[in-house]
Amino acid sequence: MSGPPRFHPRRFRPRADVPRLIAHRGLSAEAPENTLPAFEAAAAAGFTWVEFDVMLSADGVAMVIHDESLKRTTGAKGRVSETAAADLQRLDAGSWFGSQFVGARIPTLAETLAALTRLGLGANVEIKPAKGHEEETGETVAAQLAADWPKSLPPPVVSSFSEAALRAAHSTHPAHDYAPLFERIPDDWAARMQAVGATALHCNAKRLTKRRAEEVTQSGAAVRCYTVNEAAQSATLYSQGVSTLFCDRRPD
Ligand code: G3P
Ligand code: MG
Repeated sequence: MSGPPRFHPRRFRPRADVPRLIAHRGLSAEAPENTLPAFEAAAAAGFTWVEFDVMLSADGVAMVIHDESLKRTTGAKGRVSETAAADLQRLDAGSWFGSQFVGARIPTLAETLAALTRLGLGANVEIKPAKGHEEETGETVAAQLAADWPKSLPPPVVSSFSEAALRAAHSTHPAHDYAPLFERIPDDWAARMQAVGATALHCNAKRLTKRRAEEVTQSGAAVRCYTVNEAAQSATLYSQGVSTLFCDRRPD
């Protein structure tokens, strides 16, 4: 961006209960990402919130997994969106990470909500649609969270890189707390936040400039960054007004 930062009047009012650190995909440096052991490890390490990714199975069940392909975290062939939930749940999503995690499963969103309740963890639910499934994933996740989000927990933050998924989620249930996700914050970030009633945006720490951080935070919006595991980087980001960092482990 060239020239001075655009002026955005202070018009976003983010909530104050989102913590400074959120365990990314659960505590994913210590346990296999997006599994119940990763959420348990986050709680055991003192985290109060976790982030996780939700994608639909072939039969429309909301599953907690990051990649469209099953290869990296289960070793299986195929794609999440082409595999039925019952078959996904037969896969071992733990042993790629370490032998002590053999048998960890790809959890459903429903199982994850039960685990969050048990562990007392808040969450950022990232809608991660498989390509071509943006609207249905947004609608399904928004509806399920509206129906089943545990009353004992703070309301979730619902984010997505997919504008289509986020808009579909917002149309389904406008009351969720939405946050657009950006690799690099675009010039029209404010309009994209307003389209889903967001008060925060999430972005890649590596692509955030001091100037852009200033511009967004001046508007009152919260900036939350992924993925930060180093203390020096976290200090810089906090000093630029970033309020929350997603980390695989506590930054050191
Ligand atoms: O939601 C923050 C972060 O998880 C976004 O990137 O690829 O790890 O889902 P990714
Ligand atoms: Mg994510």
